[in-house]
Amino acid sequence: MSGEAQRSAPILARVAPGGELPTHVAIIMDGNGRWAAQRGLPRFEGHRKGIEAIRRAVQTAAAHDIRYLTVYSFSAENWRRPEEEVSFLMGLLKRFLRHDLAELHSNNVRVRVIGAREGLAADIRLLLEEAEQLTRTNTGLTLVIAFNYGGRQEIASAVRALARKVKEGLLDPEAIDMEMVGASLDTHDIPDPDLVIRTSGEQRVSNFLTWQTAYSEFVFLPVFWPDFDDASFKAALDEYRRRDRRFGGLSAKAC
Ligand code: IPE
Ligand code: IPE
Ligand code: MG
Repeated sequence: MSGEAQRSAPILARVAPGGELPTHVAIIMDGNGRWAAQRGLPRFEGHRKGIEAIRRAVQTAAAHDIRYLTVYSFSAENWRRPEEEVSFLMGLLKRFLRHDLAELHSNNVRVRVIGAREGLAADIRLLLEEAEQLTRTNTGLTLVIAFNYGGRQEIASAVRALARKVKEGLLDPEAIDMEMVGASLDTHDIPDPDLVIRTSGEQRVSNFLTWQTAYSEFVFLPVFWPDFDDASFKAALDEYRRRDRRFGGLSAKAC
């Protein structure tokens, strides 16, 4: 059954039989700074090295026929970091898009970007739009870049959009349901993550996909992001396949 079909199926039928691979893997890529500090290097070297780990993750995801890979690249709260680090991260995104877009496109990867575009420099916005536009009809892996992204900000923005419709008389408040809220989020065309991986050993969500992770499985890995490789990805997938997803229902084994 396809990911889309699974999500629209009734709750009990949707309980995954053990061993299925996730349709959507979302990664909180954490630990670049500590990776660098461990080596006596400046933090930005960790960020730079982290780009290679993203390239590896894209390859592994595609090789396992995972349909969606979301990478948390810059949070709405990361603006609190020193200006030099913020501008390094902005530059890194630009370099990544300029350098990797053609290859992603030739590998049939579709790029989607979630997060607030307001507040980003015009050249970055343009690059993000170009990446989405160029790859929009690709049919392979969808790489979702969460940039200037915050889950609570995304929900607030969805609520504003719905409230505007109510004010204009186009929407009855009583008609607002979960589907409508979901359809008002940046991720309206992306299924919820099945698996969320966070590297670096931290065990928190940090404002990532707040709405969408209601029933996601979480795997926390004790590796810093620049060291995340094929083996780490496979270990997380193996762990996921051992999980028993119940969505509030009963285990498939108990039915
Ligand atoms: C993740 O690594 C990258 C971003 C948040 C942009 P960090 O920069 O958070 O690295 P640590 O957590 O300080 O080690
Ligand atoms: C989460 O990591 C954001 C990204 C990976 C882009 P942080 O390093 O910013 O999260 P906290 O501050 O440790 O919660
Ligand atoms: Mg961190």
